[in-house]
Amino acid sequence: MKAVPALLTPALAAIHERRSVRSYTSDPVEHDVIEHLLDAAVWAPSAMNGQPWAFVVVQDPVVLMRLETEAATLYFDEPLVPELAALDPAELQQLRDLVLAPGFNILHGAPALIVIYATSAAGVPDCYLAAENLLLAATALGLGSCPIGLARPLFDQPETKAEFGVPPGCVCALPVVLGVAAAGSTPPPRTAPNVLAWS
Ligand SMILES: Cc1cc2nc3c(=O)[nH]c(=O)nc-3n(C[C@H](O)[C@H](O)[C@H](O)COP(=O)(O)O)c2cc1C
Repeated sequence: MKAVPALLTPALAAIHERRSVRSYTSDPVEHDVIEHLLDAAVWAPSAMNGQPWAFVVVQDPVVLMRLETEAATLYFDEPLVPELAALDPAELQQLRDLVLAPGFNILHGAPALIVIYATSAAGVPDCYLAAENLLLAATALGLGSCPIGLARPLFDQPETKAEFGVPPGCVCALPVVLGVAAAGSTPPPRTAPNVLAWS
């Protein structure tokens, strides 16, 4: 592949430098920075320019701690919520073991959380594109970030949606945590592109 000078390609640099960060300082993320991240998110492409997304931002440390506890508790509550009841038992056990691991925090102790909701189930793929824009923008602004699929069941609960004024028809696409990274992280390896055909 032809090399492209790094200085000319900030977008490619952000793509390669973005990491899922699982350790944060308590430094708050400024309001303006969150606004920039949301703006980056809504510049994602969407089918028919439908822009089927909505956002919940949480920065209150007390609320974040409570949400973390609620997200973890859902994995053990009986009866299980439908999203978790539908899992293969071995997969559910693996997730429970992870959640119970000493020192594990589903939200990684991050000082900011942005939950990306699709305004209907059909909008979820567009929301993933918005999420990647947001993650890359965070990298470009010097912040660490991490998608948190483990918290998705919590944010799809009617009670949680009601707490944040999320309409019942919205579907949680992806919660994302953000903040100043407390430690560097090693890039997990990538396999080369699996090109099945190129005619
Ligand atoms: C849909 C989705 C859900 C994820 N959920 C979690 C999660 O709950 N907790 C977590 O620590 N990382 C989560 N991740 C991050 C992945 O583990 C991470 O992207 C992968 O290991 C590659 O590492 P990298 O992001 O640093 O390149 C998720 C990623 C995606 C795309």
